[in-house]
Amino acid sequence: MTSNARSNIAVKTVDRGFGALFRYETSKVVQISSIKVSVIYRLIQLLIIAYVIGWVVVYKKGYQDFDDVVSGVTTKVKGVQYTNLTGTSIGARIWDVADYVVPPQENNAFFITTNAVVTRDQTQGACDEDPSVAPCFSDADCPAGKPQMLGNGVNTGRCVPSSQAPNKTSCEILAWCPVEVDQLPAGGTMFPEAVNFTVLIKDSIEFPLFGVKRRNVLDYYNSSQLQNCVYNPDTDMYCPVFRIGDILKLAGIDNFTKIATVGGVVSITVNWDCNLDWDASYCNPTYRFRRLDDENTKIAKGWNFRYANYYRINDTDHRTLIKAYGLRFVVYVTGRAGRFNVIPLTMNLGSGLALLGIATVLCDMIVLYLHHKKVIYRGAKYETLEDDDAYRLMNEEDDGLLSETSQDARQRVRASAQALDPPGGNYGAIE
Ligand SMILES: *[C@@H]1O[C@H](CO)[C@@H](O)[C@H](O)[C@H]1NC(C)=O
Repeated sequence: MTSNARSNIAVKTVDRGFGALFRYETSKVVQISSIKVSVIYRLIQLLIIAYVIGWVVVYKKGYQDFDDVVSGVTTKVKGVQYTNLTGTSIGARIWDVADYVVPPQENNAFFITTNAVVTRDQTQGACDEDPSVAPCFSDADCPAGKPQMLGNGVNTGRCVPSSQAPNKTSCEILAWCPVEVDQLPAGGTMFPEAVNFTVLIKDSIEFPLFGVKRRNVLDYYNSSQLQNCVYNPDTDMYCPVFRIGDILKLAGIDNFTKIATVGGVVSITVNWDCNLDWDASYCNPTYRFRRLDDENTKIAKGWNFRYANYYRINDTDHRTLIKAYGLRFVVYVTGRAGRFNVIPLTMNLGSGLALLGIATVLCDMIVLYLHHKKVIYRGAKYETLEDDDAYRLMNEEDDGLLSETSQDARQRVRASAQALDPPGGNYGAIE
């Protein structure tokens, strides 16, 4: 090539920089008539379309807008228990709801006492500490003024005989006296009837995005039906009254006495899964029950806490201390509602159809790298212009010989295909 031609091209190259702005570029299509490859291509396309339509749009409801539930729960427990524990300070008495539901109202939870250590008539004074907390042999073991952090009071400085265990001595303390003897009544739970207690769970919910409000107390119950129904997953799955024994059974707890003796935690999940393309009256809850605490833990089993009831006699403060064991129920409300909306539908379809590009990529890989005729296919797909060719083509293009140029290119592909394969075959079309 002469130096004259080279400088000519240099000028043209600069020209191309600006010219590119005013040039439309389009892709060249290579058609491959191969049954195998085209079947694979259609199959992949079919799989992707089935995934988009079947899974994303239909099964995952890709045509709906969703909103989470907002909820408020109140609970009301019913039932009474008579206890007559001789040899304890409790004696014979009736426990009604105000006695055994502590505290009377909680957010999304309720507690039912099923066992208790009751210490009556405590007053402020000096008495002996629990010997397991503060054992002593002499007054020197009980420095005055030192609090018993794990016990009940502050040392007076004396070591005295224990009233809880004969032959033992313990520090004397200033405390609510007498101190609690932390021992459950024998014979399992004090509240065997608790298995038959019932609880009404009222749950009002809203899906704010759709302005839909629902209640788990359905309108088709009248008040006497509501009084007499009991939830049963098979026969009465919308009754909002639950028997404690049924809740425990459905949570997989068969031994009521065992859990009632030391206490436990059980969750009640109210789930609202609603399709608001149907009428809102089809939007009803389902319930699930699970035990949350682990009954096989070695230490600190169950659920208990202390509280006291205070009163005043003859200008002296008195209290009844209760260490309550029992069942804590936690109510969780979950749920989601969906309703048809064009925007999620088009978004899901659009992003799904973009996946169709995978079919092209995969088939390109097969054709260019795995197929036994890959060399021919590659020759047809990629056109490599060497330096000298490139200059020549550009010059011809400048002279307006575009059609001749493409013919040249086609001839070159044919020539290279002939060079790779023995002559005699049909190389006019690539098969
Ligand atoms: C609970 O109620 C059932 C049916 O009324 C009764 O048969 C059962 O004895 C009750 N359980 C307890 C522990 O009282």
